Amino acid sequence: MKALVLSGGAGTRLRPITHTSAKQLVPVANKPVLFYGLESIAAAGITEVGIVVGDTAQEIEAAVGDGSRFGIDVTYIPQESPLGLAHAVLISRDFLGDEDFVMYLGDNFIVGGITDLVEEFRERRPDAQILLTKVPDPRSFGVAELDGAGRVVRLEEKPSQPRSDLALVGVYLFTPAVHEAVRAIAPSARGELEITHALQHLIDSDRRVASTVIDGYWKDTGNVADMLEVNRSVLERLDPHHEGSVDEETEIIGRVRIEAGAVVRASRIVGPAVIGAGTVVERSYIGPSTSIAENCRITDSEIEYSIVLSGSSLEGVGRVEASLIGHDVEITPAPHIPAAHRLVLGDHSRVQISG
Ligand code: DAU
Repeated sequence: MKALVLSGGAGTRLRPITHTSAKQLVPVANKPVLFYGLESIAAAGITEVGIVVGDTAQEIEAAVGDGSRFGIDVTYIPQESPLGLAHAVLISRDFLGDEDFVMYLGDNFIVGGITDLVEEFRERRPDAQILLTKVPDPRSFGVAELDGAGRVVRLEEKPSQPRSDLALVGVYLFTPAVHEAVRAIAPSARGELEITHALQHLIDSDRRVASTVIDGYWKDTGNVADMLEVNRSVLERLDPHHEGSVDEETEIIGRVRIEAGAVVRASRIVGPAVIGAGTVVERSYIGPSTSIAENCRITDSEIEYSIVLSGSSLEGVGRVEASLIGHDVEITPAPHIPAAHRLVLGDHSRVQISG
């Protein structure tokens, strides 16, 4: 069995975090979201991995390399433009050969990995298997309609009036039957070869499309509240370890990971939290659900439920909460504006005025 990971697509410069235009490299608990996908593919015992790349090929290749550090062997498959998920399958025909494969969208995050799903697929071997999850507003997803027996009867891509609340998760398992389907379909109204259409083609040709409903799913939508939440949930499962240097005046409570070369002095860190390599924390409070990336500087400040990307500094800022701070950002206090007090005070008054 092989894996096809989709990391193409156009750059998305409108995101709040503009350092990278590849949305698959957005960090979750100090690690690009794509790496979690590659790790779960490796954990499922799959080693031959094709990665479809587009405009951001250089960034993806610089981050992933040959895949050896994940225990996989990566082949890059260039896609000239994002012509659809089924188009990505079409151009990967030579790489995929006649093997079964899992297709994994690089901006998706599946809590708990895919090992069980891959096992289930290997045992039952339907023509294709999709993952579904209940979402409050399915209009920005593919949406599945099931019959009474739980069989997939219809799929629609981003319907304005969804027929169910079951959204397609970005992990699909295929037998080689999909190759005929991706060749048979025409581009959709938005000009893409849709994988939902290829799946519908399989269903209409009496092929068996199985589905599994899962919990614990996230995709990068550029939404800050969602990012903070997925960061929190990943940190909950953090392996605590302290590789950096922590002085005696520092108090560390709960699951905290301090990466190599980080320095923590006279501070309080309440986990779950991660402090990246080379970061310095001094006289500060780092609260729960916080990821501080590499080479940051947090001095005389308080921060919690936040993500700080590499090279940023917070110096002398009171309390920062529920924030997403990009790379190389500097946060300092505003200059103090003296407040004037106008007073008419009787003789012998005693007044305390706060500064
Ligand atoms: O995330 C789940 C959703 O993914 C499903 O519910 C939808 O049915 C499915 O169509 C897809 O929708 P999106 O609009 O979110 O897909 P997006 O364009 O963001 O692409 C998903 C990933 O695949 C992303 O990492 C970029 C990559 N991609 C996309 C296209 C269209 C490619 O590598 N090549 C492409 O041509």
